[in-house]
Amino acid sequence: MRYSVIFQGTAFTSKSSKEIQVIKDHLFCINEDGMIEKIVAPEEEEYDIILNQYGGTNNFHRLERGQYILPGFVDLHVHAPQWAQAGTALDIPLYDWLNTYTFPIESKFSDMNFAKEVYNDLVSTLLANGTTTALYFATVHKESSLLLAEICAEKGQRGLVGKVVMDDVEQNPEYYRDTNTATALEETEQFILAVKELAESTKQGVYPVVTPRFIPSCTDEALEGLGKLAAKYDTHVQSHCSESDWEHQFVKTRFQKNDAFALDGFGLLREKSVMAHCNFLDESDVELFIETGTAVCHCPISNAYFANSVLPVARLHAKGVEIGLGTDISGGFSPSLYDNIKQAVISSRMLEDGVNTTLPADIRGVKGSSITVNEAFFFATAGGGESLSLPIGRIQEKYTWDIQIIDTKVPSAKLPIYDDHEELLDIFQKMLYHARPENIREVWVQGKKVHKREGRLALIESG
Ligand code: GUN
Ligand code: FE
Repeated sequence: MRYSVIFQGTAFTSKSSKEIQVIKDHLFCINEDGMIEKIVAPEEEEYDIILNQYGGTNNFHRLERGQYILPGFVDLHVHAPQWAQAGTALDIPLYDWLNTYTFPIESKFSDMNFAKEVYNDLVSTLLANGTTTALYFATVHKESSLLLAEICAEKGQRGLVGKVVMDDVEQNPEYYRDTNTATALEETEQFILAVKELAESTKQGVYPVVTPRFIPSCTDEALEGLGKLAAKYDTHVQSHCSESDWEHQFVKTRFQKNDAFALDGFGLLREKSVMAHCNFLDESDVELFIETGTAVCHCPISNAYFANSVLPVARLHAKGVEIGLGTDISGGFSPSLYDNIKQAVISSRMLEDGVNTTLPADIRGVKGSSITVNEAFFFATAGGGESLSLPIGRIQEKYTWDIQIIDTKVPSAKLPIYDDHEELLDIFQKMLYHARPENIREVWVQGKKVHKREGRLALIESG
């Protein structure tokens, strides 16, 4: 048979950043490589031919009433070890949070057993929340960072993983930093090679990522060496950029320039670079992001806690900056991009607050700041894919079959849909606002099922 999997049902995908395309009752034909080879409409002649050939076989999946296909989410910023502290210590400033809570927990990832337990839980949790691709910071430890990539490989998630570099002896605690600059670079290179080798045994791919934690934690030599490694191996690059007032100011004092130009000076802004937060980019930083093809990862929940700031995401996107969405576990407490989609919309509306009132101009809010839920969905899917320069995040021919099947009729998590003829675009928005892990029936990555909802709910349903 020509196709390895066929789905019949209704899917939603971004047509543009503002517009959703409804692909109603189509056939989705997936090839052996896990790519969408053909999408066939009911009125096409081929539709019945394919139905006759595949219908009733094990390769054929027909969605039931109330079930819909969405692209899997792309989480552009996850600190995997911080899953162990998600939801704690959210009330203190970033600097204190890093030193009092975060570095101590990350230092525990020298223990492979602890790392295995946390990373296994996290990758499964993200899949259960519909995240099919994740860009991870691990820790400074090469071995357990590699273990995270192995767990992604094994569970079928498309993981992009970085061994974190923190070599500055002044800025990082003795118990948690690279031994020295030379070993930080050597271990990063070994890590890149090991992940590239691991990738060969996976269908969905796992990727090594050059990962200076942020400028304050790295020496100039390390930043320069990392820029060279990124170029040598053409890897992705990730870091934090202009996140909070103290961090932004720290970089300005050290380099007399903003993070963006400092990072670029070390060769760290590249087509495959993703910079988290970026709350305080000025006009020339924005131009530099566009020129270099660097993407911004918007972390709206985390920003509300640690950056005390709202990213002007609508303005950046209108200028042409690539944008994706990130949970920033555990600066963001939630593993769900659904939660971050909602927060991105809400935060953007706060930024616009006051504009459409009778208040005199400029008293409150910035015009043009608010985004729609469709745009936030775009950032969580297609925008994330563009940011990583990978064919993911869209339900479209030549893209990967990375999807989540949403069941709106799960008895204990029924969505508020009461009209059998409700507009599909309205149902789509209800899914974004109301879907919980209970509603995520199955998750597929690169044409392979990687998660099926389990437990009591599934048992109840099967009677
Ligand atoms: N800046 C440097 N490290 C971190 C981190 O772990 N989380 C956040 N939110 N910001 C950082
Ligand atoms: Fe972060």
